Amino acid sequence: MSAARASAAAGAIASAARGGLPRHVAIIMDGNGRWAKKRLLPRVAGHRAGVDAVRKVVRAAGEIGVEALTLYAFSSENWRRPQSEIADLMGLLRRYLLAELEELAQGGVQLRILGDLGRFDPELREMIEGAVARTASNEGMILAVALNYGAQDELVEAARALATDAAAGRIEPAAIDASAMEARLSTAGLPPLDLMIRTSGEKRLSNFLLWQAAYAELIFVDTLWPDFDRTALEAALADYARRERRYGGL
Ligand code: FPP
Repeated sequence: MSAARASAAAGAIASAARGGLPRHVAIIMDGNGRWAKKRLLPRVAGHRAGVDAVRKVVRAAGEIGVEALTLYAFSSENWRRPQSEIADLMGLLRRYLLAELEELAQGGVQLRILGDLGRFDPELREMIEGAVARTASNEGMILAVALNYGAQDELVEAARALATDAAAGRIEPAAIDASAMEARLSTAGLPPLDLMIRTSGEKRLSNFLLWQAAYAELIFVDTLWPDFDRTALEAALADYARRERRYGGL
């Protein structure tokens, strides 16, 4: 194992040594559409209920003491959805920020965005950037929201940044290691990812945090995202706490 890999693994091990509580939890929030379909409701009703679940889970994660919670809210592939559904999701994001920013800011939550906001409506983008700036010096839980995020794009960007730095003589190619890569990912500065949860029974990572998931525990639950609540989060954390993490050792 390279020194950098060993130190990444050591960091992850130190991270896990907290009474079994993961420092960093990521969630692929899936199943809003199916939740609505089961109730003969339009898909937007599922997304609305999904936002209620976001509210509950963010609050619960903060109270439980998770250091960072990363939510996959909009993937770079989600632009393929009908224009009306994209508009609904953007509207819900706007409303979430309007309704929750004050509580998040007061609660010490630091909001971060993973992904490229370049394709977003300028007004919404400004609002998101304002919320990030407003909470930047908070020292409570980090809430990282992935918006127009794709892990392959993130890795390509990091590779390009490294190549640019190497070409400019700022880094020796031989000095490129895992921590040089990590410093150029959108998750730089976040604790190592300990636990990735996906709801709704699908068992895929769907281009989410591919690098960061290297040592993460994966939990797939059948619960549809709008039904995921504090109890479901606590059950996932209990499952995580029972797992033995070996990071390739014995
Ligand atoms: C997956 O359900 C969910 C999404 C694509 C969007 C997740 C977004 C939210 C919960 C709301 C906005 C987020 C925040 C942070 C306010 P799906 O539509 O793919 O469900 P399906 O697979 O059952 O069709």
